[in-house]
Amino acid sequence: MAVRPIALIGAPVLREKAKKVHSFDDDLQVLAEDMLETMRQAYGIGLAAPQVSVSKQVIVVELPEEYKEVEPLSGKPLVFINPEIIKSSREEVSGEEGCLSIPGYVGEVWRSKWIVVRALDKNGKKFRLKAKDLLARVIQHEIDHLHGVLYIDRIESPDKLWKVDREAKTEREGILENVALA
Ligand code: NI
Repeated sequence: MAVRPIALIGAPVLREKAKKVHSFDDDLQVLAEDMLETMRQAYGIGLAAPQVSVSKQVIVVELPEEYKEVEPLSGKPLVFINPEIIKSSREEVSGEEGCLSIPGYVGEVWRSKWIVVRALDKNGKKFRLKAKDLLARVIQHEIDHLHGVLYIDRIESPDKLWKVDREAKTEREGILENVALA
């Protein structure tokens, strides 16, 4: 496993539409492992392949273990290949998000409260997952990355985006007081 450099805002790859994965080969396994490693090292809770300059439809998500009472899938590395949101709640909730590709900023973004996502696992097996709240938020944030969309595109007004003067230095701060860093 290796930590890869994170593409920062301004990098064209972050604005491209990521390509579908058709081959579940060793390269894909290495990519998924490296993405998890890169995400953890930056104390993020999600990462999309374009953020490591790979324009493929791969996202990883891992909520901190201590979030388990709220979300049972916390502490488990989740890998989604070619993910698609097939259903989403009409109800939207506002929450704070940061992006590992936009360091030093946090913004308030509206997202569906719950979603159903369809994807393939890293072996190419189909699965569906219903996710709510923080998990749903991170998955929506990451799937946006696959379409070249950044959370700042969804900010309603400039006062909903602000600077943070510290970087996340612990796992807890990866969810900076309930900010999803992804
Ligand atoms: Ni992001």
